[in-house]
Amino acid sequence: MTQFSRRGFLSAAAVGAASVGVALGGSRTTFAQAQSPRGLTVHGHEFLLDGKPFRILSGAFHYFRTHPKDWRDRLLRMRAMGLNTVETYVAWNFHQPYERKADFTGWRDVTAFIRTADELGLKVIVRPGPYICAEWDFGGLPAWLLKDKDAPLRRSDPAYERAVDAWFAELLPRFVDLQATRGGPIIAMQVENEYGSYGDDHAYLGHLRDTMRAQGIDSLLFCSNGATQDALKAGTLPDLLATVNFDGDPTGPLAELRKFQPDKPLFCTEFWDGWFDHWGERHHTTDPAQTATDVGKLLEAGASINFYMAVGGTNFGWSAGANLSGSTYQPTVTSYDYDSPISESGELTEKFHKVRDVLAKYTTLPSAPLPPTPRRMPPQKVAVRESVPLMHALDTLSTPVRRTTPVHMEALGQPHGLIHYRTRVRGPQGAKSLKITGLGDRALVFGDGKRIGTFDRNQPDHTVEFTAAATTTTLDLLVDPTGRVNFGQGLNDPKGISGKVLLGDEELRNWEIRRLPLENLSTLAFGSADTPTGPAFHRARIHVDTPADGFLAFPGWDKGMVWLNGFALGRYWSLGPQVTLYAPSHLWRRGQNELVVLEMERTGSRIEVRSAPDLG
Ligand code: GLA
Repeated sequence: MTQFSRRGFLSAAAVGAASVGVALGGSRTTFAQAQSPRGLTVHGHEFLLDGKPFRILSGAFHYFRTHPKDWRDRLLRMRAMGLNTVETYVAWNFHQPYERKADFTGWRDVTAFIRTADELGLKVIVRPGPYICAEWDFGGLPAWLLKDKDAPLRRSDPAYERAVDAWFAELLPRFVDLQATRGGPIIAMQVENEYGSYGDDHAYLGHLRDTMRAQGIDSLLFCSNGATQDALKAGTLPDLLATVNFDGDPTGPLAELRKFQPDKPLFCTEFWDGWFDHWGERHHTTDPAQTATDVGKLLEAGASINFYMAVGGTNFGWSAGANLSGSTYQPTVTSYDYDSPISESGELTEKFHKVRDVLAKYTTLPSAPLPPTPRRMPPQKVAVRESVPLMHALDTLSTPVRRTTPVHMEALGQPHGLIHYRTRVRGPQGAKSLKITGLGDRALVFGDGKRIGTFDRNQPDHTVEFTAAATTTTLDLLVDPTGRVNFGQGLNDPKGISGKVLLGDEELRNWEIRRLPLENLSTLAFGSADTPTGPAFHRARIHVDTPADGFLAFPGWDKGMVWLNGFALGRYWSLGPQVTLYAPSHLWRRGQNELVVLEMERTGSRIEVRSAPDLG
């Protein structure tokens, strides 16, 4: 029997232990507690932390989606909400975009993130994957796994497991001494991610578990899955804690979990309190009052919770993922605000206040006054002064490699950016249909430098008329990827051209391929001539008196990538719903700032710095 009190619930055992403590002269630690293992353990239907009943009131906050100088601010806001734990994935490709030594410095200093949480009194749940989904490019897996575009992923494959083991050997030792079993803040870790939605290879899950144990991870391990018996069965190992991910009314999902795992605590490891957007969709929000009602029911049922997300973030640079709906490719937008209680730019939303009121019944809220919304920039309009057509800059940005047939960027060791393919077609010959197979994701087509069409993977049968009038005509294909699929069976999602280019029924060969990762734009020779049409870099200068959060809008522009002082902020697209790109204060400089925009189609007359976000 369990007894409910304002501070959460105490199991009979814990009450019993407490009374034994009193009987033994009121010692602070009861006999049972003194004997219990350190860290998070399972005791019937409840969790114990260092032997004491503990309700996990957690929220997801991804260190890789928020500027490191804002980590403390966001974690403080999570404490203010009433949370006692922060949960984060580890994005493998954020640390190891290239197949070389992984990076754990600066923004990638994940242990600094964990220590900051610990300083603020938050426990930590780490989900190292290796696959994490998360609407993040390739679900966190590094692009170089797709050197062979059909490489086996997320299963007992020797090459895949060798790569995972090498990554875990670099990553996991950093967490060992931060575990609650050793007096640190990490109370639990996840094995894989919703594996029951992808496969049922328990040997693979067991390999991950054994590798984590071998690397010194002795914390409680769990597997989270959708709330169905099939997903739970396929996605959980019998010796690991099963947890569920869902949104809405918790009654059904918690019943499914209890049915699958009758003798363990109820833990919703992802309570989806918002949702994400794909380009071209409406902006997704969820009702704050309904969210609070559902959370209340969940806590009333004695369950633990991890809000997914507690803090919104940003898919900076090229990091946004994508989904497949049937064969329709759906790229995810740059903002990962997720309609979270704490927004992408740190605002405490209505949802924050309504959920906080519910949490207050189960925990003691910090007494500090609530932090205000982080300071924002005054609005200003910015003119574009200089440009350079991308096709004129190809040889300053890249050295071509030659291949008989087109190959995808991962086969050339490129993780992100654009990729350009050039061949020469013998003529003269009349108009013929050009076709591409294996396109990831859009290709701008040029004949002798003149734009003649566009291919998009969502129109696979689309053709472009091509005429090779002269003895040779140059065919250029500029491929513009928009994020690797991060969920489901279509995970092998190479970027660039992984199939063929056909002119009529002839397969075109002998290609010059230029990788365009666009990591260094300093070689661009901007000119102040009139604004070019088509893919071009444009540069603007923005004067700032006092750096603060800004929101960039591109009225009249179409689609492209933005760099602020050399930092890739992410994509914009007139498709919407997202209108503004979040530019956190720490990326701005006092005085002159440089904005570079790579616009693929048409330029607008100005760029706007706004003082409020517009996510559609
Ligand atoms: C699943 C995944 C998460 C995320 C959510 C949707 O639960 O585990 O990584 O993709 O869906 O936001």
